[in-house]
Amino acid sequence: MTALSDRPPGATVGIPIEHEAAALHVTGEALYTDDLVPHTKNVLHAWPVQAPHAHALVTRLETAPAYDVPGVVRVLTAADVPGHNEAGVKGDEPLFPSEVMFWGHAICWVLAETLEAARLGAAAVVVDYEPLPSVITLAEAIEQGSFQGGQPTITRGDVEAGLAASAHVFSGELELAGQEHFYLETHCSLAQVGDDGSLFVQSSTQHPSETQEIVAEVLGIHSHQVVVQCLRMGGGFGGKEMQPHGFAAIAALGARLTGRPVRLRLNRTQDITMSGKRHGFHAQWRVGFDPDGMLQALDVTLTSDGGWSLDLSEPVMARALCHVDNAYWIPHVRANGRIAKTHKTSQTAFRGFGGPQGMLVIEDILGRCAPLLGLDPADLRSRNLYRDGHTTPYGQPVRHAERLSRTWEQVRADSDFAARTAAIEAFNAEHEHVKRGLAITPVKFGIAFNFTAFNQAGALVHVYKDGSVLINHGGTEMGQGLHTKMLQVAATTLGVPLAKVRLAPTRTDKVPNTSATAASSGADLNGGAIKNACEQILDRLRPVAAKVTGVPEAEVRFVDGVVAGVSWDEIVRLAYFDRIQLWAAGYFRTSGLHWDSSTMTGEPFKYFAYGVAAAEVEVDGFTGAYRTRRVDIVHDVGDSLSPLVDLGQIEGAFVQGVGWLTLEDLRWDDGDGESRGRLATQAASTYKLPSFSEMPEVFNVSLLRNAAEDGAVYGSKAVGEPPLMLAFSVREALRQAAAAFGPRGVSVALASPATPEAVFWALDAARAGRDASPPEGYPGDVPEQPEGPPLRPRSERAQHELEDLDA
Ligand code: MTE
Ligand code: MOS
Repeated sequence: MTALSDRPPGATVGIPIEHEAAALHVTGEALYTDDLVPHTKNVLHAWPVQAPHAHALVTRLETAPAYDVPGVVRVLTAADVPGHNEAGVKGDEPLFPSEVMFWGHAICWVLAETLEAARLGAAAVVVDYEPLPSVITLAEAIEQGSFQGGQPTITRGDVEAGLAASAHVFSGELELAGQEHFYLETHCSLAQVGDDGSLFVQSSTQHPSETQEIVAEVLGIHSHQVVVQCLRMGGGFGGKEMQPHGFAAIAALGARLTGRPVRLRLNRTQDITMSGKRHGFHAQWRVGFDPDGMLQALDVTLTSDGGWSLDLSEPVMARALCHVDNAYWIPHVRANGRIAKTHKTSQTAFRGFGGPQGMLVIEDILGRCAPLLGLDPADLRSRNLYRDGHTTPYGQPVRHAERLSRTWEQVRADSDFAARTAAIEAFNAEHEHVKRGLAITPVKFGIAFNFTAFNQAGALVHVYKDGSVLINHGGTEMGQGLHTKMLQVAATTLGVPLAKVRLAPTRTDKVPNTSATAASSGADLNGGAIKNACEQILDRLRPVAAKVTGVPEAEVRFVDGVVAGVSWDEIVRLAYFDRIQLWAAGYFRTSGLHWDSSTMTGEPFKYFAYGVAAAEVEVDGFTGAYRTRRVDIVHDVGDSLSPLVDLGQIEGAFVQGVGWLTLEDLRWDDGDGESRGRLATQAASTYKLPSFSEMPEVFNVSLLRNAAEDGAVYGSKAVGEPPLMLAFSVREALRQAAAAFGPRGVSVALASPATPEAVFWALDAARAGRDASPPEGYPGDVPEQPEGPPLRPRSERAQHELEDLDA
């Protein structure tokens, strides 16, 4: 173990405690940014004027009529921007656009005494548009060559030679959908201006430092004149990593111009039509296997739907490319990435950050190829798992690869996999119209930001004269329990009871230049910084404690706030009178990382998080409706900092992943009518989220034992994103259940999301002994299609070409 990972006996980390704000959450007392409004005097409310076109020029903007609406105070337009009219970091996101780039794009904002007055004011603004041709679907973008950003490639070995030497070569395509974050708290900012023109912006943001930078840029002032505070978020899930900046800048600009506090909170429809989502992807692939089903070569081109601007699309693509291997050793790899530019919201970070999309591709490939190879899918997966000594396609050794097979075996044992597989076979033989499937899938997910510079963090720890401790760090709380873990880290390092430590909200004037709380590395980074600050304070207290207790300096260690019978409070009090500094700024940077984005090689990750899930589903043959009967998960969180928090993260991430893969279906109008480009699923009524009824009927989650990670704080591992990908097990179980409706050996294509409709088309195709491609143009030996509703799957995502080129 290292100094970073070594866990002292009696540590507070590792104790299962509830979320630090759980009581406040459930009683409604927890304050979110918008809850501050009733406590703030003279607040103005903001409402956007949203464009009703996917792509258009703004030819006239007349704001005067808005001022006739009682209560309207100010209309903000591009002419009001004293600094830079830019809401992003890539220079391609004008805050006030002259060219509409997606349906719902905000042209200008109205500030008024009430929200209703602002809404009426926005309705009164006159805008003329000159509509332009638009690119809506990924297919259109690919066809028209509409791309943005870099087009990186990861290569290892010789793909063509690898494919040529393979006994079986298959090719195919997959289109997979994006996902709406649907955080319960929509985007929100409240800006106030100080007597010196400085700005205090409270924002629901995962990246306060970047919000601060953008606000300063827009206002044409320095960062030191802007303070951004994030109390907590009602969910972020990546959607508040880059998207809050423009909204904060609007509120700040309004406050600057009116001298009054300005509140901007999007309602659900505004949020869903204006803010970015998970990227949908298209993948085209060729794969080669040896006679034993061992992966030999993978040639894949990933195209993501970036929407109208780059935002985080490039790093999302990098992570997708770094995860197309998921947990499998593939000797020869060529993975190309490109980002489509479409007239849609600017797609952004979402839990997993491209990793899920990349990993889904290889899981889809294995699920589709197993029957063609005559192998059981579980067997095909397990024989291809990484083993010790393997490296990833970008050249990083897969450390602790043995944990993959250990976790796999544990899930097989815990879930009674073999016996249940046999039972399901018997069940399926007896039931014509209902079939079950049981699938097991692995997860390997790299932890750290690919962009090396982001892997640093700061903290500020104050010890007051009475012995109480106040901590502040650069991470934000979005429900994931980061603050809970940080309290436990501080209590552990100092050796004081948890109750002695309090945590204050995240602010840019306490800890500067912070990274986004993202990439699941919040606890690794900020935990390292808090530990460092606490150690500095302890080092200063040691001589005082040694003098009082006679314990040699090097051996001074507080346990539960006591050293050799003398209390922490007493030592702190004496230290103050000795003129010892009782507070410290801590700093941490992750060691040993390097990444060359020009060659897409290096060791960008500190370690990998592993997990395995087995899921059983039951599918109805008439409707494609299904239920998840049982899920067993074993997940590797290292030596947990806070086991209850980690279990909650695993369960939550899994269910969110199931939502993405089986329910949530973003539909944009891609027809030629007037509402082309409009998001049709703008509310919870049309966008189906997982709820209690979609929870697995039996849900067993456990943490991998004996899994300390010596590269991270107190032996723990990141947990926020990796378990989302455990949901692949449900999708693969659905595929297997669909396959059970047909003869053996049929490769089943399954659209993503695998909604009941998509599952129906898949099982219907399996029943007919064919792939779920649409009937049109299908080779002549396909059985006659029955009369009735069109057999063409509504979602064209199921269209695959799949052929065994050598067979
Ligand atoms: N859990 C909750 N409850 N709410 C969230 O918004 N975001 C996820 C994950 N877990 C999220 C969550 C995402 S996308 C990330 S990157 C991590 O939390 C960020 O926090 P961490 O770095 O502290 O794990
Ligand atoms: Mo998480 S997608 O890295 O905010």
